[in-house]
Amino acid sequence: MQAASEILDEVIAAARNDGPPADAIVTRYFKTRRYAGSKDRRAVRELVFRAVRRSAEPPASGRAAIIGLADDLPELAALFGEERGPAPVGESDERSQAGAMPEWIAKKLSPLVAPNEWPALLERAPLDLRVNAARADRDLVLAGFPAGEASRISPWGIRLPADSRIDDHPAFTGGLIEVQDEGSQLVALACGAADGERIVDLCAGAGGKSLALAAAAPGAEILATDTNRARLAKLPPRADRAGASIATRLLNPPNELTGLADWAGRVDLVLVDAPCSGSGTWRRNPEGRWRLTPERLERVIALQARVLQLAAELVRPGGRLVYAVCSLLSREGAGQVDEFLIRHSSWQVQETPVDAGRSDGAGRLITPAYDGTDGFFVARLGRPC
Ligand SMILES: C[S@@+](CC[C@H](N)C(=O)[O-])C[C@H]1O[C@@H](n2cnc3c(N)ncnc32)[C@H](O)[C@@H]1O
Repeated sequence: MQAASEILDEVIAAARNDGPPADAIVTRYFKTRRYAGSKDRRAVRELVFRAVRRSAEPPASGRAAIIGLADDLPELAALFGEERGPAPVGESDERSQAGAMPEWIAKKLSPLVAPNEWPALLERAPLDLRVNAARADRDLVLAGFPAGEASRISPWGIRLPADSRIDDHPAFTGGLIEVQDEGSQLVALACGAADGERIVDLCAGAGGKSLALAAAAPGAEILATDTNRARLAKLPPRADRAGASIATRLLNPPNELTGLADWAGRVDLVLVDAPCSGSGTWRRNPEGRWRLTPERLERVIALQARVLQLAAELVRPGGRLVYAVCSLLSREGAGQVDEFLIRHSSWQVQETPVDAGRSDGAGRLITPAYDGTDGFFVARLGRPC
């Protein structure tokens, strides 16, 4: 409890100061405490994340968070004995419960995500793998993972229990698999990438979706771009391991288009996996909801609109744009696309070729409770010929 309380103090501070995610804080804590065994580490980690999940707002302190937890866990309450002391602020508040969601964020969630789905937004995620379709057959790879099962929706996916380690597995070192949430795989599938196409993954980050597109269409010409040098630099070694050929290009905001002049109006498919609130991935970092502020949300919504406009300039007549966010907030997903369609009234909404999620405005909303994946909004828009 002492360790969890100390870690929670750091998690709470990091949420205020834009510090590292909770996961990284737990790992760092134990780096300097090698004496702690793996069972203890797991137990501490579990306590930390339980405490984060049950509080809609950052608790007053790590200790207050642990005392709050004792309400749910009688074995923990017994350990406090006489010392339990007064209830911390918010402890008996209805916001401190499984699936606790800050009120202002709850109001902005897509209406499809009803309160009974909130706990699933914060439950611990399993480990999903994507089999490299260009190199291997999913069922053959699956045979090498006794604890694994075929994903429910993605034809490339394998699902493992949350604690699984795969870095040393021959299928990983041999480039037959990547770690990728099934929701991300579904976004790549929604693109319908085909051999011979020119594709730009505009917000490629470390290239998770570029790699999925390259595996789906090994004969496509793919350019992965981003404004973040460190993230983009992670892609070439991953592409080498997967045997994929993906070009990368660093963009300089606000002049991204200048750096892409040679691709303007010539691209068959532009994927925009836009920067967002990350509200669809809070089951991995539930403290993300403590970090989001109305100001941050406004900034990211404005950036999404700008990046969408940039993407539209790249698409050739008859080509398509796939817009995705790992968010369940209406204005980042369906709302953002509605506004794009007002500005580009000749563009047409296309069906996404994946049987996942629910229809939400011009796109589909994929959610933890409904699909068992991270949450995503994805829409496909065609530029007229
Ligand atoms: C949701 S992440 C992308 C994740 C990635 N596609 C993947 O599958 O792992 C959004 C990315 O957009 C990038 N970004 C932010 N502003 C941008 C801009 N103006 N142009 C292109 N990329 C931008 C960020 O650096 C970040 O890596």
